[in-house]
Amino acid sequence: MTQQIGILTSGGDSPGLNAAIRGVGKAALGHHKMHVVGFRDGFRGLMENRIMALDGGQLSGILTTGGTILGTSRDKPHKMPVGGKLMDMTDAIAANYHDNHLDCLVCLGGGGTLKNALRLKKQGLNVITLPKTIDNDVWGTDITFGFDTALGIATEAIDRLHSTAHSHHRIIVVEIMGHRAGWLALGAGIAGGADVILIPEIPYDVNIVAEAIRERARGGKPFSIVAVAEGALSVQDIAALSPAKRKKKEDDTEADAAEIVYAGRTLKLAERLEKLTGLEARVTILGHLQRGGTPSAADRILATRLGTACADLIAKKKYGVMVAAKGEDTVPVKLEDVGSKVKTVPADHSWILSARRVGTNFGD
Ligand code: F6P
Repeated sequence: MTQQIGILTSGGDSPGLNAAIRGVGKAALGHHKMHVVGFRDGFRGLMENRIMALDGGQLSGILTTGGTILGTSRDKPHKMPVGGKLMDMTDAIAANYHDNHLDCLVCLGGGGTLKNALRLKKQGLNVITLPKTIDNDVWGTDITFGFDTALGIATEAIDRLHSTAHSHHRIIVVEIMGHRAGWLALGAGIAGGADVILIPEIPYDVNIVAEAIRERARGGKPFSIVAVAEGALSVQDIAALSPAKRKKKEDDTEADAAEIVYAGRTLKLAERLEKLTGLEARVTILGHLQRGGTPSAADRILATRLGTACADLIAKKKYGVMVAAKGEDTVPVKLEDVGSKVKTVPADHSWILSARRVGTNFGD
């Protein structure tokens, strides 16, 4: 019997989502002769049964485009704002899944999406997820799509900030996304030659950062680039967190990202560095620039690999998994095994060790 699949994109958008939708859709339609429909705006669209036909034409010309043709939202099935209240809409979602005669729902998203997909699996739905996020913080996969593009954008930004920092003898503090993981700031900081890299995994001391900047100035380099991850915290910030907030910080997932306020910390860091070093400091917050626009070649390839592997798994009726990248292969990882794990940067990761070797300061 012809298999019927539904696709949705959930959580923050990410370059490569359209390439992944195309990968799943074209392999499912053309190779496996399945029927494919899309649901708009994540789990909300599935709950409201807002369908987008994905029967061929819609899948052409989208490989190189940013965003998602399906639209996205951060709505969770079990806590959906409806009529001013947060409601558990899991039953409505399950009903629409069955009314549309779906054999499988493909959810493209990060850690939060994965947890939501696992909840639907526990309700008896067949689900498969694909790991997307610029944060690269999904456990169980080598890499997520969107990361490489964002890395390129953030690196180019640091390259450009270097010449102006140099000309004005300034500190430029550049804030890079990544939620609670430091992959993006670390990667862009290394690639862009940032003098200081601050990431959530390594609490920093502002006095140590200031001394590194003063040392550079004494050595004839009165300018510095500080690449700071939006989730980075100083030892003082951590000490000031109440136990309840510290617990929340540990439990936060991608889906909660919108509720977290980061920006103030970077501005304060720049002010402190200005005072402690006597150099002028400026702040650049890259923000959503890192999520927009055309995906890199590497992300297009990754999204196509994962998307087509997903269609192959559906054909084999292998459900309840995330399609992960492992070296050159794609492998299914049980959703239960990923659960709520987050892939942060290990303190002894080779990127960190190499950065330390070239003299990068981590504020520790
Ligand atoms: O998870 C992707 C991400 O871009 C994070 O890096 C960031 O913290 C968050 O989303 C921003 O969320 P929003 O787009 O809802 O402001």
